[in-house]
Amino acid sequence: MGASITIQNAVKRYGKDTIINGLSLDIQPGEFFTLLGPSGCGKTTLLRMIIGFNSIEGGTFRINDRIINNIPTNKRNIGMVFQNYAVFPHMSVFDNVAFGLKNRKMSKEEIDRKVDEILKIVKIDHLKDRMPAKLSGGQQQRVALARAIVIQPEVLLMDEPLSNLDAKLRVEMRNAIKRIQKQIGITTVYVTHDQEEALAVSDRIAVMNGGVIQQIDTPARVYQRPANRFVSNFIGLSNFLPAQVHKGGETSLRFHRNGGYRISIKNLSPDVQDGQIVLTAIRPEEFVIHASGEEGLKATVQSSVFLGTATHYFLKLEDGAEIEAIQSADVWEQIPNGTMVCLRVKARKINVFTEDGSQALIVREENL
Ligand SMILES: Nc1ncnc2c1ncn2[C@@H]1O[C@H](COP(=O)(O)OP(=O)(O)OP(=O)(O)O)[C@@H](O)[C@H]1O
Ligand SMILES: [Mg+2]
Repeated sequence: MGASITIQNAVKRYGKDTIINGLSLDIQPGEFFTLLGPSGCGKTTLLRMIIGFNSIEGGTFRINDRIINNIPTNKRNIGMVFQNYAVFPHMSVFDNVAFGLKNRKMSKEEIDRKVDEILKIVKIDHLKDRMPAKLSGGQQQRVALARAIVIQPEVLLMDEPLSNLDAKLRVEMRNAIKRIQKQIGITTVYVTHDQEEALAVSDRIAVMNGGVIQQIDTPARVYQRPANRFVSNFIGLSNFLPAQVHKGGETSLRFHRNGGYRISIKNLSPDVQDGQIVLTAIRPEEFVIHASGEEGLKATVQSSVFLGTATHYFLKLEDGAEIEAIQSADVWEQIPNGTMVCLRVKARKINVFTEDGSQALIVREENL
């Protein structure tokens, strides 16, 4: 079984630049934990601190109860898979995977047995005598993964392991990685800037921006209930519209800049004030398009794209805001450009933030 990882108040500086300033997180034994964020936000930096390739300027890193700050990399019992495979080109698949074991003074029989077992798990046992140059990208990545896990580390770190693969192979390999991770139960910290990949593989996701963790939650939660505007826009796509809160009887939101269309809302945090201006975040699939003249947000179709399962509409609202709405394929006709329509909003799934977007104003649902 994997180990827990606990990071408290981590600080990383490169010269005078502080990249990470007081970052904390807890990773459970056996968890598939993903660091997700835009380029340059500090994902690789944090991973390199965990494995020991980077100095640590502050804070405490623990694997189980052991503080690892000053323990050398080769004593931390961590396996790592990099973006660019890093397999030895002059060694066969078998020798690549056996390499880490040879340094551990095992008998030849034991090494053979272990390598065969791991090659079966990653499903390349039929390729064990091949040289890396004669393998596909996905097969090379399986070799790299096998080499990292054959030493039975307590923790597996993966830094964008699939970014060199084409789109179809990426999906195949991410499913393979998830299956293998669950099969051997190893605590995994996975780095990606691909939000779909993060949603697909993770038990929990830490969304990072500028060296700061914005939210740590399950894939469903970071998508459905983002902690702030950044997360809402980084995971999936959101349209942001200001609205005014009306309390008394039923609480409602009034899109005051767009004709005063009102929706009632049940799950707004109780400390929101009557009259407060808030920022709503509405996913494209939460709009329902109706013919013009009915109740809703008045909008003009600017353009549309038919994508098989749905049609994506790009529309302009009365206040000039440009938004995207998705209509599922059970509607046959494509609405022509220039048409005036009315957009109703499915209130249950929208998100509401403070006007500056920094804080969510929705009560946490326990069943999500
Ligand atoms: N050795 C270094 N010396 C100085 N600055 C560095 C060094 N390595 C990284 N940085 C800086 O630290 C910040 C975080 O970099 P990091 O590589 O951790 O980003 P990342 O989240 O992994 O991005 P990407 O998705 O592009 O891989 C960046 O601003 C980067 O320029
Ligand atoms: Mg990186």
